[in-house]
Amino acid sequence: MDFQQVFGKPPETQASAPGRVNLLGEHTDYNDGFVLPTAIPQSTTVELGLSSDGHHHFYSENLDEQVSILDINHSPSGFASYIFGCIEVLQKAGYIIPSLSVYVTSSVPMGSGLSSSAALEVATLRALRQLLNLPIDDVEIAQFAQQAEIHYAGVQCGIMDQMASSLADTEHILFLDTRTLERRVMPLPENAEILVIDSGVPRTLATSGYNQRRAECEEAARSLGVKALRDITDVKVTEKLPEPLRRRARHVVTEDNRVLEVLQGVTSERFGELMNASHASLRDDYEVSLPALDTLVEILQKTEGVFGARLTGAGFGGACVALVKSGQSKDIATHVLEQYKQAGYTGKILVPSLELSDAA
Ligand code: GLA
Repeated sequence: MDFQQVFGKPPETQASAPGRVNLLGEHTDYNDGFVLPTAIPQSTTVELGLSSDGHHHFYSENLDEQVSILDINHSPSGFASYIFGCIEVLQKAGYIIPSLSVYVTSSVPMGSGLSSSAALEVATLRALRQLLNLPIDDVEIAQFAQQAEIHYAGVQCGIMDQMASSLADTEHILFLDTRTLERRVMPLPENAEILVIDSGVPRTLATSGYNQRRAECEEAARSLGVKALRDITDVKVTEKLPEPLRRRARHVVTEDNRVLEVLQGVTSERFGELMNASHASLRDDYEVSLPALDTLVEILQKTEGVFGARLTGAGFGGACVALVKSGQSKDIATHVLEQYKQAGYTGKILVPSLELSDAA
């Protein structure tokens, strides 16, 4: 099926946006902290046309599902909620959005922590900007996308994923200060490339666990008398908090410090050590890991040619990211997946993208 077959006429415009993988700086963005994501090769494409019957119609090629919005006071669920959310946040900002036919296709893996939702939101907003000549820049696109996610998908997320999808590319790391939105484009560490492997465990508790962590961080910041945990630089300050706030805050403070160390310039070996420390902190202090993720990360960390590895994204399942020696990611992945299988799990290599390179 294509746009023409679903809607009976060709689209008027289209836009794409990539997923992202975060190398360092996890669960720091809603604490006004620092992150280091990069775009992945997989992307989402949104084709748009005007709908002639006064209703929005959204079609997902991946799900082979069509959703029609017959009552705009009733938010849809699933993939349609992100598109509907984008339309609604633009309308609330004063833009007039006509009834639309929307066709979505995506190569971003869903449920792996690689921001398929941000890719859909940013692609939708880019396509709307083109169709309607909206005077919004890439940072505003990320901000509208984040609002759509918070208010229409129910995740109290930070701004990392949407900024990465809107501003990052696959060749660089994007350092972002999530409070000021100051950013710096940095090269990947020397002689290194990125490997992303899905753990095969879906992120079931992600939304509730995520929102709970965010609430704990806000409580910790309030108790310490700061606006956000980003304002604490000395980890000793967190010791006066009761558990579990103490460990939650310790993760955020040490994670921010790890990102800031990278900003000073580090070797690939040191970058890898910081990723390993990040995983331990996410597992022990932030408690967002799972046995499958710990197993995968442990196998990666023990494998020759791997500088460092950690879970990536919100946790509670999904993918792990590793920094590995240039040119070795596929061999390393084969070895790691074999060992992971022996441990009783089935993983999958996501980056480099075998599907996209096969298609090329
Ligand atoms: C999800 C959220 C982001 C960020 C990460 C954890 O991807 O959407 O805003 O908080 O989790 O670092």
